[in-house]
Parts: sequence; structure tokens; C-alpha cells
Amino acid sequence: CGIVGYVGDKNASCVILDSLRRLEYRGYDSAGMAIDGADGIEIYKEVGKVADLAKLVEGKNPNAKRGIGHTRWATHGGVTLLNAHPHSDRNGQFALVHNGIIENYMDIKEQLQREGVAFKSETDTEVIVHLLSNYYDEMKDMVEAMVKLQETLSGSYALAVIRKGDDRKIYCVRRGSPLVLGLGEGETFCASDVPAFLPYTRSVVYLEEGEIAELRPDGVTVWNSKGELVSKDVHTVEWDVTMAEKAGHSHYMHKEIHEQGMVLRTTLKGRISDGRVDLSKDLNWTQEDAQRWKKVHIIACGTSYYAALVAERVFERWTDLDIRVDIASEYRYRNLRCDPETLAIFVSQSGETADTIAAQRKARAEGAHCMAITNVRGSTLAREVHSILLLKAGPEIGVAATKTFTGQVAALFLSALYLGRLRGSMTADEEARLVNEFLQIPYKVENVLEKENEVIKLAQKYHDRQDFLFIGRGISFPVALEGALKLKEISYIHAEAYAAGEMKHGPIALLDEKVPVMAIIPRDMMYEKTLSNVLEAKARKAPVIGVCTEGDEHASKYMDDYVEVPWTDEEFSPFLTVIPLQLFAFHVAKILGKEIDQPRNLAKSVTVE
Ligand code: G6P
Repeated sequence: CGIVGYVGDKNASCVILDSLRRLEYRGYDSAGMAIDGADGIEIYKEVGKVADLAKLVEGKNPNAKRGIGHTRWATHGGVTLLNAHPHSDRNGQFALVHNGIIENYMDIKEQLQREGVAFKSETDTEVIVHLLSNYYDEMKDMVEAMVKLQETLSGSYALAVIRKGDDRKIYCVRRGSPLVLGLGEGETFCASDVPAFLPYTRSVVYLEEGEIAELRPDGVTVWNSKGELVSKDVHTVEWDVTMAEKAGHSHYMHKEIHEQGMVLRTTLKGRISDGRVDLSKDLNWTQEDAQRWKKVHIIACGTSYYAALVAERVFERWTDLDIRVDIASEYRYRNLRCDPETLAIFVSQSGETADTIAAQRKARAEGAHCMAITNVRGSTLAREVHSILLLKAGPEIGVAATKTFTGQVAALFLSALYLGRLRGSMTADEEARLVNEFLQIPYKVENVLEKENEVIKLAQKYHDRQDFLFIGRGISFPVALEGALKLKEISYIHAEAYAAGEMKHGPIALLDEKVPVMAIIPRDMMYEKTLSNVLEAKARKAPVIGVCTEGDEHASKYMDDYVEVPWTDEEFSPFLTVIPLQLFAFHVAKILGKEIDQPRNLAKSVTVE
């Protein structure tokens, strides 16, 4: 879900709609807003997209100067008008929007029902607004009521609340869910993510766990969870508004795919000098830290997990440490040995994925050195870890991650090279050779992007298939996983990825002339092996599409279709081979007329377990 709030002199509903559109990637099965009207707070809600809400609100109440808005991704309660936010209390005194999950809402709800409160929705959120209303009636002070509210609620929440009669103020609180405040000239904003208010201001205040804020047109006042005043730093974000716009592309995803050369260049910039990786400006690792570590755990979800799987292959080559990669939702409930000899790396584009944050807290409690690789400075993950390596990818709006995947792989590679250097597990020659090739990768990525027309032809040929099998070995196996994920996410075509050598143990049974096999088969150590798996697929009449290295004479012989990528050292091939797969998913989805930037049922940042 995404929440926004505005208080200033502009037309509040216009600002809120604009901000909600910029947050729509976070979830979008319904949307709503609450603004001040002549007779109190007016609430507008619509099932569907922000555009549907805009139609409903059009022309209504242009004088409102304060309001809150919400775009929902259903967790508790179906996608209905009644369950859409904002929610209000029984006498319409408050309107509230919420991102997160209240774990003890059932107990609170039963208690409130016993006291005679009638509930309108099935959401966990509605309990919050009734509780707040009760506490306020008792205390007549918003901050005290918010302190008490936090004592009662368990779970995660970012809240924005408006109260009737208090028409120049918005109250916010956050715990476990993201919320940032934006300070403009005579206007103040709150939102789940910075791009929401980027056209209006780049001055932001990040709220810590449990902090309560009062937003007024002239600024903000912040208290801690006990109700004590705290002073806050104002940060300037580096992203500018054009970075969060489509810049002539039909879709954000298309723009983001094409930004990958630039993203890699900025990620490497300032982190390589004299042929060596130097992360001392980013990471506070000491030589002693690096010597103490015996294990590396890399933990993530979704595409970030696949980036981690790619990196696993290089950590095991470039360092002498034991390396383990796991999905955050599994890791947090496992009993993997994690201790002060462990470097635990958490990879998360948003820095807000609930499972990844929980896994980090577990590893931290067990004494590991926790490091984050994230695209969002000031995110929950970024604020909790011991060290952080920021991606410099700019905002990623398309739900299906693309440029942050390649950015994460690059950041992980840099970390592995740096660690290998600190531990002395790599020779200077080896390091120089790798760094040299790494610096060529942005250009090679751009070269692959120029082959988009070839990929469009493939999409035209294969877009009507029901199932795909993606195969690869070694470092190309996680690329196959990512390629299949992209296709499922945005085209809704069933796609499965397998380690090519494992295909004969099951998925080969699915193959016939109707099921295309996408083979990621660069010229590397595993080439011959993967080629024999391709022949196994061909023998079952499956059409094979190859992602191959330029000049590979076998490709034209054995594949039905293929796209070539430039030659690179084996370790770096994922940067190149993943590009045709991203473009393929994009163009198939486009031909099929799907909602590419906002696929059904998915959200950009999953802040619930
Ligand atoms: C969601 C997004 C994916 C993303 C995953 C992990 O599922 O739709 O694109 O890979 O979350 O997100 P994170 O922000 O932790 O990288």
C-alpha cells in the first residue's frame, strides 16, 4: 500500500491524486482520499486505480487545502469499496490511512464491539481509527492519544490522520512501515516513498520507529514514542523528478531496462581506482572484520534473491569464505549458524521488504555483521544495518525489477572483489583482469540493448505460447530464474526455470512442439554441457531460443532462434544475458496488452510477512 498526505495552499485533492499516481506502483486494487469539506471531512473511495478515483473526485471541493490519500493492496479483507481507505470513526471526527498490518486487531475489534462500536469494513485498519477516536476523546491531545495508540497496537504501521476542526494539521506515526516527510515552501507532505512528492520538494525528514509527527504548512514537529520532543535532521534527496518520469518511453519498465548501462556506470563510479575496487568510502569494514569473517550469508526476496544467487557464484570464486544464499522468508525461520564470524548481506531494492528486515534483525541479534545493498537511502533496512552499499539506480517505478537487478549484481560483485582483496584471497593480477572487464560491461550492456528489434521479432513469434521453460547452468541458472520470473510477472504466461542439467529429472516430461525452451548458453565452462541439454529438448521437438555469445557457430545450427550478446568473462555474462530476457518479457506483455508497469496482484514493495 502507499499513503500520502498534504497540507499547504494548493488544491489538496489535486496534489493527493498526483502523489498517489506516483505511488501507484506500491499497490493498486483500490484508492481513496479524505479532504476537508464545508461540513467536515469528506471521504472519496474507489475500487480500481487512482485514475478511477480521479474521476470520482473531479470538480469536488477545490478549496480543500489539507488531505490524506491511500492506494491499497489488499491484505485483510477483500477488494471492496468498504475496505478501501481512508477509514473514519463513528462520528466522522477522524479520517485515517494505514500501510502495514495490525497483528492484534481481532482482540481489539472484539473489545470495541463489546463497547458498542459498529464496524463498517473487514480491515485491520478500522480498529485504529476507533481506538484513536476513543483516546482523543479521553485525553484531548493528539500526541498523547498517539502514544497510547502505540502502546495498544502490535504489528507494523505507517499512519496519516486528519481531525475535523484541526484543518491545518496532519498527524503521522510509523513503526515497521515506511513513511517520509517532505518540507516545501509553505506546504508539507508525507508519503510512503519519496517519489510521491518529488515534484514539490527534495527536502525530507525520515521518521524513526515509533516517532509521531505533526505536519503544518510551516513545517513539522516530531516526538518519540513516549511523547518527548525530538529534533530531526533535514536531508536533501539526490533523485530529481525527471528520474521518476517516463522520459518518452511508453512504460517505466522500458525506460528502466534502457537505463541499465548508465546505472552500471554510476554504480562503478568512484568505487574503482587504479584497477582496484575500493569501497572504503561506503563500507566501514576493517581489515580485522574481513579476517574475522568465515561465512557470508546473502538474504533477499524476489528478483533481489536471484541477484544474490548470481553473486553466490562469484563470492565462492573470489573469496575463500563459505557462502550461503537464502530467501528471507525461509532464512528467518531456519537455524542456520549465524554468529560474529558471519557477514550477512541483505539485498533489497526498496529496503522495506518485511521478510528481509525480519531476517536482518535475526542475524543481527545473533551477532553477525549486517550489511544492506539497497536503492533507498533512509529505508528501514538501510537505517538498521551496520554497513550499507547504496545502489545508484534512481527510482525504479515498474513493479518488475530490471535496472535494480543489474545494479544489485554489480554492487554484490564489487563487495566480493573488495572482500577478496581485504582477505588476500585473490591475486593482484586476477583482480586487475576482472576490474578491467567489469569496466567494459556498461558498454556491452548498451550493445545488447541495441538488439531490441531482434527480440521484438521473437516476441511476435512466441507470444501466444502457454508455457515456457528457461534453462541455464552455472552462473546462467539464476539468469534463467530471473528471465522466467519476468515473463510470469508481466505477461502471466506460465514460465518455469530449471538448472539445465536437472531438466531430465522432471520438466522434460512437459516438452513438446508447443513448449519453447529459452536456453541461456554463453560461451563459458558449462557451454558444452548446456548444449547437450539443448539437444535433449530438441529431441522432444521443443523449439529452442538461445541467448548465445556472438560468433557462436553452433547456435545457428541447433537453435530455432537466437539472440547474441558480446563476449565477456564468464562471471560477467549475467549482465548481458539477462537483457534479452527482460526485453522479451516486456514485448510479449506489450503484444498481449497487459498492464506492464503494474501487473495484477503484485506490489513493488511487500511490507507484510
Ligand atoms: C516484490 C517486487 C519484486 C521484488 C521483491 C523484493 O515482490 O514486486 O520486484 O524483487 O518484492 O523487493 P526488494 O525491495 O526487497 O528488492
